[in-house]
Amino acid sequence: MLQRIELSHLGRVYEDGCVALAGASLELRAGSITVLVGPSGCGKTTLLRLIGGLDAPTSGRVLFHGADGLLAQPRTAFAFQEPRLLPWRTVLANVALPLELAGVPVVERAERATAMLERVGLVNAVRKLPGQLSGGMRMRASIARALVTAPQLLLLDEPFGAVDEIARHALDDLLRSLWAELGMTVVMVTHSIVEATYVGERVVVMAPAPGRIIAEIFPQFTERNSALRATAEFATVTAGVLRALGEAMVEEHS
Ligand SMILES: Nc1ncnc2c1ncn2[C@@H]1O[C@H](COP(=O)(O)OP(=O)(O)OP(=O)(O)O)[C@@H](O)[C@H]1O
Ligand SMILES: [Mg+2]
Repeated sequence: MLQRIELSHLGRVYEDGCVALAGASLELRAGSITVLVGPSGCGKTTLLRLIGGLDAPTSGRVLFHGADGLLAQPRTAFAFQEPRLLPWRTVLANVALPLELAGVPVVERAERATAMLERVGLVNAVRKLPGQLSGGMRMRASIARALVTAPQLLLLDEPFGAVDEIARHALDDLLRSLWAELGMTVVMVTHSIVEATYVGERVVVMAPAPGRIIAEIFPQFTERNSALRATAEFATVTAGVLRALGEAMVEEHS
């Protein structure tokens, strides 16, 4: 059972000498939801790829701690800015694809994919093709596909960056409720301060050249609902994130 993820002095220097990440250290409790923000090029995607095991660090380590010692990479799912659905497969067949690849029997995978589509509000779209969906619906299908294998770790790289702000608010609410229900560890990258503040238990602010962590903010609200974004309480926290981001930009230009 995964207890925490430890990023220990994590560094990634690319082959051309670019120091994308210089010694990032962070502890992620199992079941926590963390958001990474920072100027373009500060190493957010690099960090996410290292946590997900898609890339190896050039220094430091990613450690998955269990109750009795270290674990291998936990069951991990990714979602990206583009939904990356297969255009010739129905929504149901797209969402069932990870189960198909894992060798899950056909009846079970249809059941599990349907249940997840129901959960993201797409039960009426199961037979449609991705081209027949709105951008927000495509994104919900992509989230359903990421979650259908019941991952312990969900990594999201600007997942809702391509949809309009109102659809994004709904997707943020959906993500929060899926997280509360399913209990996976989530790490999400976003450029939206409102999204970071709304979604994150913890907002990690990064700065570029070299990529590193410069601040952490822990948004705490009495209740997260659609009215929250318009409150003074919320504005105070977003201002804190903005100030930290301002410092990241100043450091970049000094
Ligand atoms: N494969 C690569 N080879 C060389 N340099 C790379 C490679 N991938 C990323 N970089 C560089 O590493 C740095 C960090 O890139 P990364 O993609 O992690 O940033 P990011 O914070 O995700 O940016 P964005 O917000 O624009 O997505 C950048 O300077 C980028 O040019
Ligand atoms: Mg990126």
